[in-house]
Amino acid sequence: MNYLNIKGQKQLNGSVKISGAKNAALPLLASTILSQNEINIGNVPDVVDINTLLKLLGKLGASYDRYNNHVKINTSNLNETKATYDIVKTMRASILVLGPLLARFGHCEVSLPGGCAIGQRPVDLHLKALEQMGAKIEIKNGYILATCPEGLQGSTIVFDKVTVTGTENIVMAAALAKGTSIIINAAKEPEVVQLCEVLKDAGLDIKGIGTDTLAIVGTNKKLLNFKEFDIIPDRIEAGTYLCAGAITNTKLTIENVIPMHLDAVLAKFREMGFSIQKDTNSVTILPADEIKPAHIVTTEYPGFPTDMQAQFMALATQANGVTIIDERLFENRYMHVSELLRMGADISLSGNTATVSGKPNTLNGTDVMATDLRASSALVLAGLVARGETKIHRIYHLDRGYENLEGKLSSLGANIQRFNE
Ligand code: UD1
Repeated sequence: MNYLNIKGQKQLNGSVKISGAKNAALPLLASTILSQNEINIGNVPDVVDINTLLKLLGKLGASYDRYNNHVKINTSNLNETKATYDIVKTMRASILVLGPLLARFGHCEVSLPGGCAIGQRPVDLHLKALEQMGAKIEIKNGYILATCPEGLQGSTIVFDKVTVTGTENIVMAAALAKGTSIIINAAKEPEVVQLCEVLKDAGLDIKGIGTDTLAIVGTNKKLLNFKEFDIIPDRIEAGTYLCAGAITNTKLTIENVIPMHLDAVLAKFREMGFSIQKDTNSVTILPADEIKPAHIVTTEYPGFPTDMQAQFMALATQANGVTIIDERLFENRYMHVSELLRMGADISLSGNTATVSGKPNTLNGTDVMATDLRASSALVLAGLVARGETKIHRIYHLDRGYENLEGKLSSLGANIQRFNE
């Protein structure tokens, strides 16, 4: 197994190009199941989760070529409708094939995603919505068995909670259903918006994109005609590199981003004393005279993203004073706390609230364990500012979602190397 070794307290500077968004690429690749034609997709990040989904689509019978960040994919010969445990267990987002497979073939089997480091993360809302659209769902031997021999029927779906992949799954199911579906309390994340826009460009009648109410006129199983498209930039990778600039208190520019997608995160940097310069496709963070504590509440887009909570906790350890973090989306998303404590941070937890008593230059490098994707990036950030060497183990979590992490950080001046245990 690989680990990362970081020699901390190196000054960073320069600029870094942000990759395509993993969380946009995943539903968009799943949506190719709805296509009648071969599709060219650009700006696809080269990360493990994307390779996992491509492998799954390949097992279902899709053919694809991948060169650099381009994927050419053809799903016209799909001949299998079972997403097996061996793949789904490695990536929850495999559940995204459920809606499109069921809509296209009238039946499918998808392994239940099972437990996850950041909480229970059920898929009950996905299943309830599909049942409302006429699907029969049975859970047997760890698999979701879904059937709808007559095809899915358009329906009015009211999500009890805002769910990102739930909205994406039902948008894809509704695309080939018979009649109109209205999705109320839909997620508005930029990744959901891009999925809707690509489907609209492919001929789908979909209204309300970017709002919490979507209206979709299904094609009654007629496949869509996809155009070529590029995946939007990864706002979480972007925020993570801005945190690298912030935690080392240096000037750093991120390029190839959509600054608007980062508004809530940029507002929090300003609150903590940093200056931000926005350009059309880039954002620069400038050092703070003093890093100030903040109050952070994670919520759905356009609020502060839960996927940035761990990185801001690492940053808060360097503030002068007490930062309060309320994690409102996931229980058990504080796995990074025990590792930050081992590095010398002062953090206490009470339910979903973390209290971070920050003090600059108090972290020391040591061996730490990555536990989930974003928790791992918090440890990398802490390593950048810690005294001495930090060894981060189990970095396969990082490889799931960060393209060329050590290459990008090295180019900014960090001393970070990958070794084999
Ligand atoms: C997606 C993102 C993930 C991000 C999260 C919240 C992808 C591949 N992953 O995850 O990075 O952290 O959004 O922004 O895009 N819930 C239920 N029942 C369900 C579905 C969800 O109770 O059927 C709950 C979850 O437990 C959670 C909340 O709803 O408390 C939001 O989860 P959801 O938006 O579904 O997260 P994901 O789509 O899994």
